[in-house]
Amino acid sequence: MEIKKITCIGAGYVGGPTMSVIAQKNPDIQVTVVDLNAQRIADWNQDDLSQLPVYEPGLDAVVAEARGRNLFFSTEVEKAIQEADMIFISVNTPTKTYGKGKGQAADLKFIELCARQIADVSTSSKIIVEKSTIPVRTAATIKNILDHTGKGVQFQVLSNPEFLAEGTAIRDLHHPDRILIGGENPEAIQALKKIYEAWVPSERIITTNLWSSELSKLVANAFLAQRVSSINSISELCEATGANVDEVANAIGQDSRIGSKFLKASVGFGGSCFQKDLLNLVYIARSYNLHAVADYWDQVIKINDHQKTRFAEKIIQTMYNTVNGKKIAFLGWAFKKDTNDTRESAAIYVADHLLEEQAQIAVYDPKVQDVQIYKDLDYLATRSLEENKSLLQVKTNPYDAAAGAHGLAILTEWDEFRDLDWGKIKTQMKKPAFIFDGRKLLDGKKLTEMGFVYYAIGE
Ligand code: NAD
Ligand code: UDX
Repeated sequence: MEIKKITCIGAGYVGGPTMSVIAQKNPDIQVTVVDLNAQRIADWNQDDLSQLPVYEPGLDAVVAEARGRNLFFSTEVEKAIQEADMIFISVNTPTKTYGKGKGQAADLKFIELCARQIADVSTSSKIIVEKSTIPVRTAATIKNILDHTGKGVQFQVLSNPEFLAEGTAIRDLHHPDRILIGGENPEAIQALKKIYEAWVPSERIITTNLWSSELSKLVANAFLAQRVSSINSISELCEATGANVDEVANAIGQDSRIGSKFLKASVGFGGSCFQKDLLNLVYIARSYNLHAVADYWDQVIKINDHQKTRFAEKIIQTMYNTVNGKKIAFLGWAFKKDTNDTRESAAIYVADHLLEEQAQIAVYDPKVQDVQIYKDLDYLATRSLEENKSLLQVKTNPYDAAAGAHGLAILTEWDEFRDLDWGKIKTQMKKPAFIFDGRKLLDGKKLTEMGFVYYAIGE
């Protein structure tokens, strides 16, 4: 089965970077990324590579190399489906906001729409690759729709979950720990394997049955999130006992059975994946009546919610139990550094908590636009858009955000925050000048010597 043309449905944080790298490494394969969102496609096609819709270090160079050669971004979904030998489905699978499973199950309406559209327009056999994160056994649903509504052509369905992390997507795609392919048909598996073998050593390509592959993605995210919640739970114990969470993380991380990665205490994990995939895992476990399993993983989310609330309450309590009318500068809004993505960012929830206490917030983030920040707050529907706009301002540099502030909170670990002129910030702030470091990013000792009142998670 030789693959000459690939189409990817969904030009988001996964589809865009993943297909850019596949095209870069397979110059003989034509890769077309399609999306219903015309603005997103226009943004992928624009000349100014610093304005691509997804900000990822190194992405601009990959796009510059492949775009127009064998990488195309288009809104012509049907044409691209018809022409493709292989179709990646990389659409969003958010948590359901309605009906059965509301607030827990994954919403598969976009997946189903893709399957129906592929079935409707396909006149030749195709391999369909699930790139989106989906509940275990979704491949059966996709295959069912394709076989029952299609025009009698052959479809093979593979699972190929994506493990890239935002902010390091290009590095992760270029040097993946592993590529996972689940499927039943050896020829289809081999066709997909060959695409990755253009740059990934074959021993790093794992093949499994469909269900193991689908489930492994949810489990990988659950284990990663669990590590963050584990260390965050210990951060609270450190604060109560005088231990330092970084020292504890280092001491336990040296044990090769535990390992040192993903043990950074923080204001709480965010991002579009961890919470969504944990909720989905909990939902799936409950649907099989495995309540002990569901409760176990649910606790990872509960600790994360607790950590965000705890951070906001620490700010209020430290600032003499009231933040009413006080200005608090927020450095960072993205859910982690090196991305413009704000989905489920801890900053949103901490801000909402402080705004409920009538604080004034001034936000600076190097990559997130003001429109997005207001959209994130409005989505919570805690108060009106006008109220959010009057209580929260977005600044284009950190010094404006800090000017006249009673307190300053680090919400995202952007490297540039380390090198700010902290002397200048101190003179601009009200005294005592409080810093709340939700990322353990700054040199607390130095800042304390400078006269700041410094609090960091887990110290
Ligand atoms: P995204 O929201 O950034 O992108 C999805 C895109 O799909 C959107 O642009 C949307 O317009 C488009 N789309 C939806 N339905 C469509 C249709 N029928 N036809 C054409 N386009 C359609 O989402 P994302 O972050 O790229 O995530 C995609 C999937 O990958 C999700 O299942 C997610 O869980 C998974 N995933 C995400 C990450 C991550 O870091 N963001 C990592 C691994 C896996
Ligand atoms: C995650 C998975 O890492 C990736 O494999 C999967 O494909 C998608 O979900 P992502 O959400 O992009 O990737 O970023 P990640 O680096 O995992 O960080 C998630 C959240 O956890 C961020 O808010 C981050 O700040 C936080 N985190 C991570 C910590 O608080 N401490 C850590 O030690 C690591």
